[in-house]
Amino acid sequence: MQIGIFTDETALATTAAKHLIKILNNSENKVLGLATGSTPLPLYEQLRAANRAGKFTLRGVQGFALDEYVGIAADHPERYRNVLRAELVGDDKTGLREEDLHTPEGNAADPRQAAADYDAAIKAAGGIAIQILGIGADGHIGFNEPGTSLTSRTHVDVLTEQTRRDNARFFENDMDKVPSQCITQGLGTIMEAKYIMLIATGENKATAVRELVEGGISARWQASMLQMHPNALILVDEAAASELQLAVFYRERWNHNL
Ligand code: GLP
Repeated sequence: MQIGIFTDETALATTAAKHLIKILNNSENKVLGLATGSTPLPLYEQLRAANRAGKFTLRGVQGFALDEYVGIAADHPERYRNVLRAELVGDDKTGLREEDLHTPEGNAADPRQAAADYDAAIKAAGGIAIQILGIGADGHIGFNEPGTSLTSRTHVDVLTEQTRRDNARFFENDMDKVPSQCITQGLGTIMEAKYIMLIATGENKATAVRELVEGGISARWQASMLQMHPNALILVDEAAASELQLAVFYRERWNHNL
């Protein structure tokens, strides 16, 4: 696990974009794992800028979202498919093609079957070369809430009250409007990505980041499982790093540029 601590958001997003572009360019398998939430948005802006400048394109890349709400209207702007489409799809964005954007089918008649099909589709594409991740304040990644099996596959699950409260800002500040169920890649699925890049910013992520990096591996803090991943890059700002005990060492190791 490598931990990069940044003083400003732009430097963090620039590093994230460089890393992602390098890995995808060097990978035979052009499959990108996409995250939603507000944290990856500056990274997506960097990817749009790189596409505008003709330096990089997601054209020809297969994009797989981490998760999707169950039972959200197809045209709801917060449906993750719609969020990712608005951020990434089209030559005027990152070059990603609509048919190459894959999201779990949250409105399927049988969401459990849709979850299993989605897991199989990732495998059929050859697996994810690099998975972008955010983190919830309770340590969730994707929508894997505390207590989920650390080897889970893509599955239907329930959002905690805290996650619904956190996400209410996207639903007219009304947590009752936040769907209560989701389909999410499981930790077992996520751990199969060749590279992981988790981004966290803001003080409300500080405890989750501490548990992710320095806590014991436990289902209480789902992201702690990433300690077992051979190629995990954790990019955080000062606020999100504020509870790390070994921040001085992480900075020193980062400066060695391994
Ligand atoms: C949601 C998403 C997660 C995301 C989290 C944090 O729960 N399912 O993938 O990491 O929100 O979001 P934000 O980056 O807005 O804090």
